[in-house]
Amino acid sequence: MAQPQQSEGTEGETPPLRVGMVGYAFMGAAHSQGWRTVGRVFDLPRRPVLAAICGRDGAAVRAAADRHGWAAAETDWRALIERDDVDLVDICTPGDSHAEIALAALAAGKHVLCEKPLANTVEEAAAMTAAAEEACGRGQLAMVGFNYRRVPATALARRMVAEGRLGSLRHVRVTYLQDWLVDPEFPLTWRLRRELAGSGALGDLGAHIVDLAQHLAGERLTGVSALTETFVRERPLPGGPTSGPTSGPTGGLTAVSALGTGQVTVDDAALFTGRFASGALASFEATRYATGRKNALRIELNGERGSLAFDLERLNELSYHDGTEPGAHAGFRRILVTQPDHPYLEAWWPPGHGLGYEHTFVHQARDLIHAIAEGRRPEPSFADGLQVQRVLAAVEESAEKNSVYTPIAV
Ligand SMILES: NC(=O)c1ccc[n+]([C@@H]2O[C@H](COP(=O)([O-])OP(=O)(O)OC[C@H]3O[C@@H](n4cnc5c(N)ncnc54)[C@H](O)[C@@H]3O)[C@@H](O)[C@H]2O)c1
Repeated sequence: MAQPQQSEGTEGETPPLRVGMVGYAFMGAAHSQGWRTVGRVFDLPRRPVLAAICGRDGAAVRAAADRHGWAAAETDWRALIERDDVDLVDICTPGDSHAEIALAALAAGKHVLCEKPLANTVEEAAAMTAAAEEACGRGQLAMVGFNYRRVPATALARRMVAEGRLGSLRHVRVTYLQDWLVDPEFPLTWRLRRELAGSGALGDLGAHIVDLAQHLAGERLTGVSALTETFVRERPLPGGPTSGPTSGPTGGLTAVSALGTGQVTVDDAALFTGRFASGALASFEATRYATGRKNALRIELNGERGSLAFDLERLNELSYHDGTEPGAHAGFRRILVTQPDHPYLEAWWPPGHGLGYEHTFVHQARDLIHAIAEGRRPEPSFADGLQVQRVLAAVEESAEKNSVYTPIAV
């Protein structure tokens, strides 16, 4: 198999990392921002180059290349993967194409970054993980894009849990709430079709919170008990400009398609409880019907020595309660996570000058570039993505069986 080809450079000079990205809409724009910005903020062992971007519509992909700063444009992902001037393939397409593109990219000798969820099925995710494992032996690395690990406040929470500040964990409570499907006239876009998206709120939002909960807890779920529901089962076929949560209506402004309607084949909401290996209990809620909630991700961890809470709507803050302090003046306090010794913040602005959602993609690029330059496995790995996929499959199985407690396959 081909090794990642190194671009020519002066002798002794570290070669750049040349990125080829597939998909140029929501995540394409966010990842572009990450690749474009990372070298201007962080000192990096390899400088990323935005070599080529791929989409299916020639004019649209060229416009995206100009807007986001990519040197070249392709209209077939196979051509992108074939390019000698691409070292890493960044997959920002819907889940139905993740496995095919990732397997081909690994076979062509490229490193891979793949958006979440890793795939649409456990079988696909397992094949991707096996291929990534084999490719790792050839020096190629693969990572899945669970970017919420890379908010400085969640990274600090992970550090504090690892330091033992919570002691034995008892509870993890997570919700991820959106409302872009409340309007029954919102069109049947790819996120509402199982053959394209794999599942609904579960794979889209649930995958994020399963990964974040396990990452912060530092341990894995062993089983789940679940309820899922599809509230609106038929929707207009897409005919207008709306295409997803980024462009979706929130105030009854949808253009109703003249093309008729189609069946929604995924869940609209998923609620589940789970048990961690240590015996800690967890609860999860992922929905696109939480009227008024736009992208509300909240997580709280309670341990015998303390608690931590994070709210994505206040992402520069982490709430911490030190349960070992005398009760008279103990309580939750707000840590403003903008200090240079907080994760990722040594390179950003002076204390108190906060970051936002987009910075998670800069941090994702930074961490992946370091892992590649240092030849170490990046996290979250494809194996981590596969394990999340197994949790999602157990949730679906439990929901189909009247919420029966379902162990996570190992
Ligand atoms: N990490 C996050 O916070 C986050 C947020 C949103 C979406 N996602 C994930 O990112 C992925 C993409 O989601 P999105 O919101 O960007 O979707 P999107 O609909 O905004 O964009 C999808 C892009 O993929 C392109 N595409 C689809 N099939 C293609 C193919 N066969 N060849 C080339 N291009 C193709 C489309 O033209 C479009 O440019 C999904 O896996 C989704 O779950 C992650």
